[in-house]
Amino acid sequence: MEKDRIRLAAIGDIHYGRPQDSIQPAFAQIASTVDILLLLGDLTNTGLPEEAKKFARDLTSSVKIPIIGVLGNHDFESGRQTEVRDVLQEAGVTILDGEAHEVQGIGFAGVKGFAGGFDRGSLQPWGEDIVKLFVREAVNEALKLEAALAKLRTVHRIALLHYSPIRQTVEGEPLEIFPYLGSSRLEEPLNRYQVTAAFHGHAHRGKLEGFTQAKIPVYNVAMSVLQHIFPDRPPFYILELPSAAPVTTSQATAPGGVST
Ligand SMILES: [Fe+2]
Ligand SMILES: [Fe+2]
Repeated sequence: MEKDRIRLAAIGDIHYGRPQDSIQPAFAQIASTVDILLLLGDLTNTGLPEEAKKFARDLTSSVKIPIIGVLGNHDFESGRQTEVRDVLQEAGVTILDGEAHEVQGIGFAGVKGFAGGFDRGSLQPWGEDIVKLFVREAVNEALKLEAALAKLRTVHRIALLHYSPIRQTVEGEPLEIFPYLGSSRLEEPLNRYQVTAAFHGHAHRGKLEGFTQAKIPVYNVAMSVLQHIFPDRPPFYILELPSAAPVTTSQATAPGGVST
C-alpha cells in the first residue's frame, strides 16, 4: 500500500573524524521513524578519505533508508573530495553535485554552493581576476543547481546545499563573516523552480528557518543549530510531505580563517 506521507530527516555539519565520534545511536533512532535521510555537507572534518570511510561505515550500519547529500567545504579541505565522494557513493549514499535524483516520488537537486554575500552586499565580478574567479564559482554553482532543478518533473522538489542561499538563516553568526556563509546567487533558482523547501548547513550559529523572497522555506540544519534547538532529542530536522505521484518516474541525471 502506498504511503500518504513521506518524512525527510535532515542534518549537516557532522564534521566526522575524531576517534571518539559516534553517530550510530542517533542515526539508528531517526532512521526508524523517517523515509529518507538528507546530509547537508561538512560530513568529514578535514576531507580525508579515512574520515569518510569511518563515517560511511558507521552511517550505513545503522541507516537502511535512502541517503542523499552534498559535500561541504570541509570535505574539500584535503583536496581529496573526489575520493570522499567515491567512498560515500560506494557505501550507498547518493552525493549530488549538480545532479537531480528522484526517490519515492520526491525530486532532489543538490550542489555545494559557494560564498559571496547576500543581497546588496553580494560581491560583484569587478576589478582583479581573482575577484572575478571568486564570483564565477558562486555563479557556476547557481547554474548547476538550476540545471538540476530543471530536470525534475516531480510535484515536490527539494534543494540541497551546503552554503546558505539567503541571509536570514545565517543570522546569529558574527556579521563580519556573513559573506563567507553563502550567496544570494543561489536563491534565484529556488524561486524560479518553486521548490518545496531548501536545506543547507555551514552556518553553525545561524538560525533554523528562513524564507526566500518567493516565500520558499529554507532550513539551516547545521548539527550545532539543531542541538541548540532540540537539546533532548537527536539533532535532525524532520519535514513531512504529502506523498504525490510523480509526473515522471524516470530518474534524471545532469552532468554534472573561518571554519564552518
Ligand atoms: Fe562548512
Ligand atoms: Fe561546518
